[in-house]
Amino acid sequence: MQSTELKKVIQGIPKAELHLHIEGSFEPELMFKIAKRNNIVLDYDSIDSLKKAYKFNNLQEFLDLYYTGAQVLIHEQDFYDLTWAYLTKVHSQNVVHVEVFFDPQTHTDRGVPFDVVINGIHKALEKGERELHISYKLIMSYLRHLSEAEAFKTLESSLPYKDWIDGIGLDSSELGNPPSKFVNVFEASAAHGYKLVAHAGEEGPVDYIWEALDLLNVVRIDHGNRCLDDEVLVQRLIDEKIPLTLCPQSNVALNVIDKMEDHPVLKMLDKGILATIHSDDPAYFGGYMNENYYETAKALHLNNSQLQQLAINAFEASWLTREAKAKHIAQVNSYFNSLD
Ligand code: HPA
Ligand code: ZN
Repeated sequence: MQSTELKKVIQGIPKAELHLHIEGSFEPELMFKIAKRNNIVLDYDSIDSLKKAYKFNNLQEFLDLYYTGAQVLIHEQDFYDLTWAYLTKVHSQNVVHVEVFFDPQTHTDRGVPFDVVINGIHKALEKGERELHISYKLIMSYLRHLSEAEAFKTLESSLPYKDWIDGIGLDSSELGNPPSKFVNVFEASAAHGYKLVAHAGEEGPVDYIWEALDLLNVVRIDHGNRCLDDEVLVQRLIDEKIPLTLCPQSNVALNVIDKMEDHPVLKMLDKGILATIHSDDPAYFGGYMNENYYETAKALHLNNSQLQQLAINAFEASWLTREAKAKHIAQVNSYFNSLD
């Protein structure tokens, strides 16, 4: 397929984004704007010089910059603007459902109250649902480089907002911070009614995926690239229909793979794993949903039926009701039928 034709096909697919860190959607233009109104001087003297710094050898190098960028966010309006910018962008890419991560500790550790963060994000998500018809879920992530006791404090702070939060995630520096470190707080979070997911097997070994499943009882794995190292695990993922939320451009940007042609998503689809594609931190990794679909499809020569499967998998893996999933999947199918 020609690249313009492929882009057109991808644009038209109704899509669900299930792996997106809202702080990772912070575009340099907006960062400079918010820094200015908050009287913060960034270490970079222009948007271009900041963008030039977006070269990473690994996850930690990215995280260092990502946490620095987030320091500009102080007021409810800042969190609202950040979230609204993301929603309008993905609306233009025909994304119709989002499940968004936020990292409260990145902000509360700097003295920004939990309610400021969640009020701003929630208001924008509500407006997105009303005006852009993007349905949403919100996932609160614990930072795994911090202690389990710190995660417990965050869980406590979240309880007055329980009705706004659908699930719990685990992100930040993976190596040396295995899921087993958070067994108690994940158990307590589940007792409060939160669904559970965790980043595992991005840079970390396959054992971390096992731990996320067996010790944390997660319902989805974020990334999970390393699962192909273990045939028993692959069979488990297939049998239990455990989704993997993959982020191809993130994987290239953070050297999880050398090049897009090496991305495991096609092997995963061929095996029958519920693999899905998302953007992770689009402002830092060069693309939102359409670009992730496009770069993957181009490198792996995905055909329409594989693209269709990826789009269906994302709705299947979402936390929408059975009826909403069926409605979206029917729309994906009718879109692809209309192409033939
Ligand atoms: N991995 C781990 N933590 C993160 C990421 C990621 O890709 N993005 C934001 N926090
Ligand atoms: Zn992530």
